[in-house]
Amino acid sequence: MISSPFSSSSSSVPPTSPADPLLSVRDLRVVIDGLHILHGVDLDVAPAGVTALLGRNGAGKTTAVKAVMGLVPRTGSVRFSGVELSSLPTHLVVRHGIGYAPEDRGIFAGLTVAENLRLAERGARGETGADEPNYPLVHELFPELKQRAGQLAGTLSGGQQQMVAIGRTLLNRNRLIIADEPTKGLAPKIVAEVAEVLARAAEAVPVLLVEQNLALVRRLAGTCAVLADGRTAHRGDTAELLADEEAARRLLGVGSRHPLAGGPRPAVAPAAPVVTAEVKP
Ligand SMILES: Nc1ncnc2c1ncn2[C@@H]1O[C@H](COP(=O)(O)OP(=O)(O)O)[C@@H](O)[C@H]1O
Ligand SMILES: [Mg+2]
Repeated sequence: MISSPFSSSSSSVPPTSPADPLLSVRDLRVVIDGLHILHGVDLDVAPAGVTALLGRNGAGKTTAVKAVMGLVPRTGSVRFSGVELSSLPTHLVVRHGIGYAPEDRGIFAGLTVAENLRLAERGARGETGADEPNYPLVHELFPELKQRAGQLAGTLSGGQQQMVAIGRTLLNRNRLIIADEPTKGLAPKIVAEVAEVLARAAEAVPVLLVEQNLALVRRLAGTCAVLADGRTAHRGDTAELLADEEAARRLLGVGSRHPLAGGPRPAVAPAAPVVTAEVKP
């Protein structure tokens, strides 16, 4: 049983019912250098487990999570645990307890695992009231990080690097983790490791998972939102979406019976099976 990373209480946060979304994004818009990148993103993140943010390359997924974190200028509503965050700068957004593992992982290759974790320690935090970095939780979920504390992060496998990236977000007793394409560019075997990393993390803290690997999404995410051309094109149950061949093809560019979607295996295996749905050049 995983111990809760949450601090005991926070009097400034209005009460929410267990059925309420933890994060509720409405009409999120982003304009950068005069370019309209997001034109109306709606997204609800469930208060437990994994919620997926899906969409083809260039749909606006990374921009949407950056907008939630305050890393790009945004308008619209971003309510987290009943508190409106849309006008806050990033350093105050993170204080409310949102941990972000960016698309490139943001690992310092020349530092050890322990040093990477130590750099992520935020110390005393107003909103969640936690003082001590939660090493017990990180080491309980990812014992390898303890065993490999002295190893240079650049020499870790892709899966182990994701443990560091996700471990850093858990260290700070966050109440939500946002992971942007954690399986991007990884070999199939490593993708399976990362799936395990995410499943373990989601036992402790709800996760918003940006992902193109539909087999992984099918396995982990109960609900999803799909972006297309900078707006939300679909929201709902992940299994239902992936069971709908036509909708999956239209929204995600891949049929749900495709091996990428984790559906029934084809009679003849493809010569060079591809597990990730990564289609960037
Ligand atoms: N800083 C930026 N300046 C100009 N265009 C950008 C910027 N960031 C993202 N874009 C564009 O916005 C669109 C959405 O990008 P992104 O959010 O990275 O999509 P995704 O993560 O879904 O692949 C793309 O067309 C991308 O080229
Ligand atoms: Mg992206």
